[in-house]
Amino acid sequence: MRPSELIDTPPHSVADPSHGLGRLAERGPVDSPPPYPYGWFAAGFSDEIRAGDITTRQFMGRDIIVYRTESGELCAAEAYCPHLGAHFGHGGRVCGEVIECPFHGFRFGSDGACASTPYEGGAPPPAARMGMLAVRECFGMVLVYHGPEATPSWEVETPTDDGGWRPLQKRKLKFRSHPQEVTENAVDYGHFDGVHNMGNFGVVKPLAVDGPRLRVTYTADYRLPIKGVWKGEFDIRVDGLGFSIVEVSLPFGWLFRQLVLTTPTQGREIDVYLAVSVRRTRTRILAAIAAPAERLWGQIVLRLIEIELGRDQRMWEHKKYLNSPALASGDGPIGRYRRWARQFYPGADNGNGAH
Ligand code: FES
Ligand SMILES: [Fe+2]
Repeated sequence: MRPSELIDTPPHSVADPSHGLGRLAERGPVDSPPPYPYGWFAAGFSDEIRAGDITTRQFMGRDIIVYRTESGELCAAEAYCPHLGAHFGHGGRVCGEVIECPFHGFRFGSDGACASTPYEGGAPPPAARMGMLAVRECFGMVLVYHGPEATPSWEVETPTDDGGWRPLQKRKLKFRSHPQEVTENAVDYGHFDGVHNMGNFGVVKPLAVDGPRLRVTYTADYRLPIKGVWKGEFDIRVDGLGFSIVEVSLPFGWLFRQLVLTTPTQGREIDVYLAVSVRRTRTRILAAIAAPAERLWGQIVLRLIEIELGRDQRMWEHKKYLNSPALASGDGPIGRYRRWARQFYPGADNGNGAH
């Protein structure tokens, strides 16, 4: 095959499955989605960025900083100073509501404009503007927008928080994969039994997409690693390839929300933010007694999710992304999912405005 034929391959199309096996040997490394999709992606847990802190993150192939001013305003920006390129994450400091560069001491406001320089009589240079990034705090997570324009064209739809949920219990991991592959798991019904011991699968609400959002609800029996079965209902809410919440209902009114958020750092390396929030007991009298049990319950759930994620990780880290998978009738709606996912890549023009 000529190199141009490989390059011409649509980066993430789902072609006729009947051609799948025949073309398997021809597939090369371009047979995968571009590494840095557009959308909202996690850059930390909210409570790990305290007032006055500057944190450096690898994000979509470069360094960014996330910091909080003294009044608590959360900011995200490119890591390098527009004056002469110093890295704010190496010696920069937050001074009240501005950030100060460690090199020549220029100070910048949260709008990115240079507020002052230490030079006598010199006005702040208007061209010296920090590369500010759109940032949100959403369900205990710091989300940063990555897109062709600085202004986001859509927002994450956070589920309501009526104060009835326990604080996030969380973990951060690192994998080698891609957000599209990780999110695809939610609609890959065929792997639930073999990989996750989830039988009796049934769809409650079929997959529905609306611009950058994807929703689906299903039930399954989860066979616990030691003994016993949990009958669960899984309500999946996906907003782009970087944010999703799964609300899991179990018998006796047990309810928890789980987040598995992935952020490309460099190439195929991704940060994985894993978090669980357990529904509090609704009776006031029982609440105090139930709190330790709910914390323990959250830890158990987090551990189980980590175990299941480890099983997926084995697949993700060693699998190959196939543009033209040989889909079977028992598979989940993977083709629809992949067509929906196309909107998050450079060059997409689907009218959804999902960039
Ligand atoms: S490089 Fe930042 S003030 Fe000079
Ligand atoms: Fe999975």
